[in-house]
Amino acid sequence: MEQQNCTCTWPLVKWVGGKSRNLKSLLKFLPRNLPQVYVEPFVGSGAVYFTLASLFKSSIINDINPELINTYQEVRDNFDEVIAHLNECIYDLNFYLKMRNLDREPGLDKLTSLQRCVRFIALSRTCFNGLYRVNKKGYFNVPFGKYVNPVICDEERLRSCSKFLQLNKTEILSVDYTSLLDKIGPDSFVYIDPPYAPISDTSYFTSYQQQIWDDKEQKRLLEFCDALDKKGVRFMASNSTAHLIFDLYRHYNINTLNALRSINAQGDRNTLKEVVITNYDDFIETIPAIKQRPSYAQGSQQEQIVYTKEESDLAFSRAFGEELAKVAKLPKLRKVKK
Ligand SMILES: C[S@@+](CC[C@H](N)C(=O)[O-])C[C@H]1O[C@@H](n2cnc3c(N)ncnc32)[C@H](O)[C@@H]1O
Repeated sequence: MEQQNCTCTWPLVKWVGGKSRNLKSLLKFLPRNLPQVYVEPFVGSGAVYFTLASLFKSSIINDINPELINTYQEVRDNFDEVIAHLNECIYDLNFYLKMRNLDREPGLDKLTSLQRCVRFIALSRTCFNGLYRVNKKGYFNVPFGKYVNPVICDEERLRSCSKFLQLNKTEILSVDYTSLLDKIGPDSFVYIDPPYAPISDTSYFTSYQQQIWDDKEQKRLLEFCDALDKKGVRFMASNSTAHLIFDLYRHYNINTLNALRSINAQGDRNTLKEVVITNYDDFIETIPAIKQRPSYAQGSQQEQIVYTKEESDLAFSRAFGEELAKVAKLPKLRKVKK
């Protein structure tokens, strides 16, 4: 059987604020000596988790979005059934609307975990711009996407995520991040990627969930960071360059970096500044340059048109994870049988 490197893999789905495109500038702020446990309280699509977790003994990932977390659990524990059901999904407006409306009637709690996972992935692969979003009532409200024959069941990606989750001893939770505090000890490294503080009153306000992240929420997050710091836990937190953030975190190291961000619904990208806050300053710093993202596109011509960018992100992540492991002089990379 072919051996596949499982150092890191694709993010599970496309996600608002996903870090795939900014890994290199972000991860040079990792601490020089990594502890045993990786914790990511706002995991989203897991771009950082799927790059770093194999460098740790175990991981805890969490997100308040129950549909996202249910998908992680099902992909890890019930892979074959997920694939079988996804293969029955079709790219069709009526099919899409029927799936989408399941959260109104009969309500998601009437579905099995498997059905919820299949719905989540199928909607993510066929909705406009591929981004999951709910309205204030918690209803998925993204319109039907405009694709040419999109791949709804990306078996290779899902298999790779499934294996990765199994191999890298990962506890998967869906709670408010503050509930993780008791689980986190000094042997943990915590990467925090919360909804960002808006940089101006008029700037785009992110709605991943019904919960709004206002100044009060940002202050609550600071208390969480202070509690980690008090326990001797190293943390790295991303946020925007809002004045509030510089003010709240003035007692920590605040580093500014350029980040590629989507600036409109079409997914056009621009470089924006954002901050990386740490409670340590012995950064890993020198990550060897990876000059170019290798092209990874395979499969049919149509798949290439839709997925080339994501696929090359995967190859970049893999190459990056391997480079990182060399720099950190960490144990040999794990291999997984496909
Ligand atoms: C910026 S996104 C994380 C993006 C992620 N780094 C990635 O690469 O996809 C922020 C995440 O925080 C989650 N979230 C919001 N409020 C939360 C809370 N109180 N506790 C835990 N997670 C929360 C959202 O559901 C969202 O997935």
